[in-house]
Amino acid sequence: MIFKEITFVGMDLGTFKTSVSCSNGRRDVVLSAVGWPKDHIARGMLGKDVIFGEEILEQRLAVNSVRPFAKGVLKYLSKEAAGMPEADLERHKEAASLLVRHAVSLVNPPADGPVYGVIGVPSRASIANKQAVLAAAAGTFDAVMIAPEPFTVAFGMNCLMETVVIDIGAGTIDICPMCGSFPSEEDQVTIPLGGDAVDERFLALLRKAYPDAKISERKAREIKEKFGFVHNLEEKVVVTLPSLGEPKQYDVTGQLKDACGTLVSPIVDALKDVIAKFDPDFQDRFLANILLSGGGSQIRGLDHLLEESLAPYGPASVTKVYDYVFAGAVGALRLAMATPAEHWTQLQQRSGGSTATARKAA
Ligand SMILES: Nc1ncnc2c1ncn2[C@@H]1O[C@H](COP(=O)(O)OP(=O)(O)OP(=O)(O)O)[C@@H](O)[C@H]1O
Ligand SMILES: [Mg+2]
Repeated sequence: MIFKEITFVGMDLGTFKTSVSCSNGRRDVVLSAVGWPKDHIARGMLGKDVIFGEEILEQRLAVNSVRPFAKGVLKYLSKEAAGMPEADLERHKEAASLLVRHAVSLVNPPADGPVYGVIGVPSRASIANKQAVLAAAAGTFDAVMIAPEPFTVAFGMNCLMETVVIDIGAGTIDICPMCGSFPSEEDQVTIPLGGDAVDERFLALLRKAYPDAKISERKAREIKEKFGFVHNLEEKVVVTLPSLGEPKQYDVTGQLKDACGTLVSPIVDALKDVIAKFDPDFQDRFLANILLSGGGSQIRGLDHLLEESLAPYGPASVTKVYDYVFAGAVGALRLAMATPAEHWTQLQQRSGGSTATARKAA
């Protein structure tokens, strides 16, 4: 028998972006979206049946696009709670599966060897949500495991003891206390809020304050990513937006601070609940070791504001991960490589060993 070397892949399958890190040393990131040409004219122009990444934004008039994990559809809500018609749900599942396959193709694993993956999911994803992620991964991986998103971040950074990870993504904020072992589900919290909710609020406030200004969801997100803040700011955030066809300047300081600030009290309240379950000695140590990850961690002043808001419960110290784009994927890869071989073999047997063929056929 010829032994084929195993390739490991860590994946952070986010609502907004999907990052992948591979044991062959490659890594990449792509928007968590899939675009299909609207008709045969668009298909001819694009020359492809499906498109991914920035091309979707560039070609948005010619494609129907789906963000498979937006609004928690597959990742943390039941389909009833998501309120999505069956046909749309099927489309989202198909998009999820295409996205996983595309993301793995970006790191180029060898076509003829097994690929084992670890995928990060929200802390309180239900069994049905986990199955949806596993189904999306079937056909791409030969064996796959899922792990809570903040746990993968902590594992990657070797912060396995007395640390609380707060992962502020686009769809959810996931809070996970690390106590030296795989976290139990009851210890963790998923808040159904994140960057998408900030964008929605910011856009609504801007449209109310400046009805003449033309502003898209994308533009609102870009302004937030560039200037988002929650602390007291000396200068003003002034942006240029079209108004009745003419560029005009708008002061968006108040609206931006308000929108970004909506994340603070839900985080503080949930964190208090998470920490309260531990004995007082540990509570202090958790407060002194809070790690912020995810895109929302980049909101300026958020770390200090959280420290201030937590001060009544003890001295808090909040640090940001140095690379929020890849922290989850790199940790998931590390977890994949640290998982004993026999565990992978069992998983592979359970998945029937048939997925390699599907992947090669892609
Ligand atoms: N500099 C920044 N300031 C504020 N927000 C930012 C910044 N950079 C990215 N974001 C926001 O972070 C969010 C994306 O974060 P991240 O990539 O961690 O999400 P995700 O992993 O795709 O989502 P989830 O974990 O909820 O599934 C988006 O809402 C994005 O606009
Ligand atoms: Mg995430």
